[in-house]
Amino acid sequence: MTTFAAAAPYYARFRPAYPEAVYTHIRKRFRLDGTQHILDLGCGPGTLAIPLARFTAVVHAVDPESAMVAEGLKLAEARGAVNIAWQVADASRVLDLGLPEVAVCTMGRAFGWMDRSQVLADLGRLITPDGGLVFVSSLAPPEPPPWLKVIEGVGADYLGPDYRTRYGPASGPVGEPGDLLAASVFSHVETAAFEQALEFTLEELVGLQFSFSYTSPDVLGDRQAAYEADLRSDLARFDPTGRFFETRQTVCTIATRR
Ligand SMILES: C[S@@+](CC[C@H](N)C(=O)[O-])C[C@H]1O[C@@H](n2cnc3c(N)ncnc32)[C@H](O)[C@@H]1O
Repeated sequence: MTTFAAAAPYYARFRPAYPEAVYTHIRKRFRLDGTQHILDLGCGPGTLAIPLARFTAVVHAVDPESAMVAEGLKLAEARGAVNIAWQVADASRVLDLGLPEVAVCTMGRAFGWMDRSQVLADLGRLITPDGGLVFVSSLAPPEPPPWLKVIEGVGADYLGPDYRTRYGPASGPVGEPGDLLAASVFSHVETAAFEQALEFTLEELVGLQFSFSYTSPDVLGDRQAAYEADLRSDLARFDPTGRFFETRQTVCTIATRR
């Protein structure tokens, strides 16, 4: 069981979808035409796997957290995505899963949780010569939405000031100094960013917090109800209209062989 176990239902319900432009970008870049197999590593509830299924023969969706895969199965059924092969497994086992060669491996906000060098080496053996990797992540905005300070204040009260890093992924996103990609076979890197306007109700913003590893119900334990009550009242006091806005940048980093 991971910190995402109890977060999984909140993840499936409250995490906003990535913008559609991300999928168009991936489809065009790799000429996905419904004949390729792709892999979504650290798939969660199929955030990337389900929308990408329409462009592929099979999406192999892999995640070590069975609760995430269970949510993914429900969402895929509801959306009619029948060509997804789900597996509960850690990325370190990717070569033991009986996967065929894949054209693309996507990782949405998941690479930082993995043994990154090992995964890159393993994927070098699994991805077709003209294929590649796609990392999708949300960029922290230069000007965070003002309500984020309220949420972080309540989080710090309950879990300590460093709670986001303490319960977050081991590594930061790709593309930082000391870039592992440059040293891997996937050393040709391109990035594209897509802007998305988001609006949350109070209900959605509270539910969203339980989808994060650092404020998941597993981390909060028996303080979850008190945390929720404080968060609700602080957010309602901060903005009585109950509408919370954010402009988010989703970054798509594509890495291929030279
Ligand atoms: C923030 S969620 C991302 C889910 C989804 N890819 C998305 O874009 O929304 C991170 C996911 O990585 C998974 N994960 C954590 N450690 C992992 C590992 N060692 N190998 C593969 N996946 C892992 C978690 O279980 C979780 O589902």
